[in-house]
Amino acid sequence: MTSAADLLADPYFPRLKALVIHVTGMAFYADKDADLALIVADRMDHCAIESCAAYLERLQGDGEEMDSLVAELTIGETYFFRHKEQFDALREIILPDILARNASSRRLRIWSAGCATGPEPYTLAILLKREFGAQMLGWHVSILGTDINQKFLARARDGRYDQWAFRATPDNIRHDCFIPVGKQWQIKPEYKAMVSFQYHNLTRNRFPSITDNIAGFDIIICRNVVIYFSHETVEALVPCFRESLTDGGWLVMGHAEPNMELFRSFRTVNCPGAVLYQRVDGDVPEAPPPSPRPPPRPPGPATRPAKSSPKPKPPVRPSAAPAKTAPVAVAASQPLSEVRSLADQGKWDDALRACDAVLSGDALNWRPHYLRALILDQMGDKEACEAALRRAIYLDRRAALPHYHLGLFLQRAEETEAARRSFRNVLTLLEHQPDDMLVDEGEDLDAGQLRETVGMHMKLIGM
Ligand SMILES: C[S@@+](CC[C@H](N)C(=O)[O-])C[C@H]1O[C@@H](n2cnc3c(N)ncnc32)[C@H](O)[C@@H]1O
Repeated sequence: MTSAADLLADPYFPRLKALVIHVTGMAFYADKDADLALIVADRMDHCAIESCAAYLERLQGDGEEMDSLVAELTIGETYFFRHKEQFDALREIILPDILARNASSRRLRIWSAGCATGPEPYTLAILLKREFGAQMLGWHVSILGTDINQKFLARARDGRYDQWAFRATPDNIRHDCFIPVGKQWQIKPEYKAMVSFQYHNLTRNRFPSITDNIAGFDIIICRNVVIYFSHETVEALVPCFRESLTDGGWLVMGHAEPNMELFRSFRTVNCPGAVLYQRVDGDVPEAPPPSPRPPPRPPGPATRPAKSSPKPKPPVRPSAAPAKTAPVAVAASQPLSEVRSLADQGKWDDALRACDAVLSGDALNWRPHYLRALILDQMGDKEACEAALRRAIYLDRRAALPHYHLGLFLQRAEETEAARRSFRNVLTLLEHQPDDMLVDEGEDLDAGQLRETVGMHMKLIGM
């Protein structure tokens, strides 16, 4: 039996690691030798293979063993209605736009790339059927879920879930759309029928590919997948996503993947808690603007209304409920909302000018510095972005978001130790805050969501 320690000392281990990263794209494992060795040792034990060289040979010649290894390496954290804000954006912006755009063809194609065990594409099916069913009678709707992990795909096809997968799902939706089976819940056939699943490796299977069924999507949703990839890999994937969309089609990336610089070839639409990217080739009619921002909240502690129990995360509101009415930020001033509004429309130069104008009269307020940093990030001015973030922190060390964005910035710059410190600062600042406490300047972001996102990044770079 080979131990993880033996493997780490084995001269073939670096080759095995390189192969794993090459096949999966998961650069995440580049500095996680110990974790990787544990998983590989376990697989070797299972195959009764003692030497790393022999296992490497097996992997190269046997797709099944590679799949089994990949099944252990990939991280499949997922749940229904994960990050409600993104589903709100789908409901309020993307789907109405596509409904109008495709009114004559009456077709809708959606791809959930990296769907894990399926809650993401099934959530889309539920949203579509429950909220757009009447308008879409007679439409041809297809939702495709793909993943590299065959075990996850098998579970997705099975469509049976534990209670934990519903931690963000309103009870009425669970009861209406699932059938209880013992302690689990089975997705109802009418939703199941809307979704198909297939294996697809984002980093190895070239796309778009009509042969592979990966082309011509109106919506691509790829959340919490590319965070495990290297910057270069993601950079290479962005044009593939773009080409796989129809003209006017939409790309939704994860809540934790705010590096919009990579998505410059898209039209960016910022809305509360979500950033959307639209492929625009020619004269694409504008999508309806995001719902108007609510008025700024007066100073004082901000919590999300009507959500009181901190753990587990409160369910999303029933779909029929009105759009979020939570305030934008504590003490957001009128001129700052104008800066945000310009930035939301992608008018970076104007936003920067407006921000500078605010700063000229309010230079000791961390908020305009923070907003300025986000704008500069979009404009690709890294140095000035970092300086603005540090200034915001200097002006108020208790503001969590500048620490968080500095962490992201340092993570991208591969300054891991410094990034870790910034993320830890966020966690310390949030320590005594209930999950539903709104984060200052975070629009609808609450402490629970920020904690979760930071936790994911810390896992990625190693605690
Ligand atoms: C954290 S889950 C995200 C699930 C879902 N999108 C969500 O946000 O809830 C990441 C998924 O990406 C998949 N994945 C990792 N590398 C991949 C690749 N190269 N191609 C396709 N999927 C991949 C993993 O197997 C895993 O199921």
